[in-house]
Amino acid sequence: MNIAIVGYGKMGRMIEGLAPEYGAEVRLRLDEFNNANFEALTAENFRGIDVAIEFSTPDTVVSNIERITALGVNLVVGTTGWAERAADVKTLVERHGTGLVWSPNFSVGVNAFFRLVATAARLLANETEYEAWAWEIHHSAKKDAPSGTLLKLVDEMRAAGYSRAIDTAASRAGRHPGTHEIGFDSAADTITLRHTARSREGFARGALRAARWINGKQGLFEFGQIAFE
Ligand SMILES: NC(=O)c1ccc[n+]([C@@H]2O[C@H](COP(=O)([O-])OP(=O)(O)OC[C@H]3O[C@@H](n4cnc5c(N)ncnc54)[C@H](OP(=O)(O)O)[C@@H]3O)[C@@H](O)[C@H]2O)c1
Repeated sequence: MNIAIVGYGKMGRMIEGLAPEYGAEVRLRLDEFNNANFEALTAENFRGIDVAIEFSTPDTVVSNIERITALGVNLVVGTTGWAERAADVKTLVERHGTGLVWSPNFSVGVNAFFRLVATAARLLANETEYEAWAWEIHHSAKKDAPSGTLLKLVDEMRAAGYSRAIDTAASRAGRHPGTHEIGFDSAADTITLRHTARSREGFARGALRAARWINGKQGLFEFGQIAFE
C-alpha cells in the first residue's frame, strides 16, 4: 500500500515511523512548505498513491479533501475542526466514487469509550437527579477547542437520549496528548468516566489501520463503524 502523508507535523511523522508495520510505504509528504496553496495536489504527484492520510490544520483540511478526492484517491482524515462541512464532504466522496474514513479520534480505546459513555447516558437519561459534565485537556498548541472528540462525546450522549444540560469545558496547557472526561453527579454519588491518552501512538496506529481498511473501497465511514470489525 502506497501512502501520502498530508500534514507532516507531529501526527504525520509518527504515522511515517509506524507505516512499515502496516505494510505501508510513504511515497509523498506534504506540509506547509510544499503545499501552502494546495499546489502539490496534482495527478502527477498522486500517481500510484493508494491512500492519503490527512492530519493538517482546520484551515487547510477541507481544501485538501476536495482536491485529493477529485484526483480519485482514498483518504483517512484525522484533522478536527471541520464537522460543519461533513455533509459537503459526503456529497463529494459519493460523486467521485472514492473512499474516506474520518474520526475526531483514531484511538481504538476512545472509540470504545464513545460506546461506554453512550450506555451511561442512556441509563441516566430519565434519572433527573443526575447532572452531567464534559471536560477535556490537551497541549497548548492544539488549535481547536473544545476538541472534536469532546463534541462527539456530547453528540453520543444526546443520541442516547440524555437531553438535560451538559456543562462543557476545555483546558489547554503543556504537552498533554489528550484526556476526556464525562461525569454524572447527584446528591448521593458521582460517576466519572475518563479516557487518558499516553501518547499520539494510539491515534497513529488507528489511522494506519483505517488506511489498510479503506484501501480499494468506496464510501464515507467513521472510524468507530469499522474499528471493531
Ligand atoms: N483524529 C485523531 O485521532 C487526532 C489525533 C491527534 C491530532 N489530531 C488532529 O490532527 C491535526 C494535526 O495534529 P498534529 O498534532 O499533527 O498537528 P501539527 O504538528 O501542527 O501538524 C499539522 C501539520 O500540517 C501542516 N500544514 C499546514 N498547512 C498545510 C497544507 N496546506 N497542506 C499540508 N499540510 C499543511 C502544518 O504546518 P504548520 O504547523 O506550519 O501550519 C503542520 O506541519 C489537528 O487538527 C489535530 O487536532 C487528530
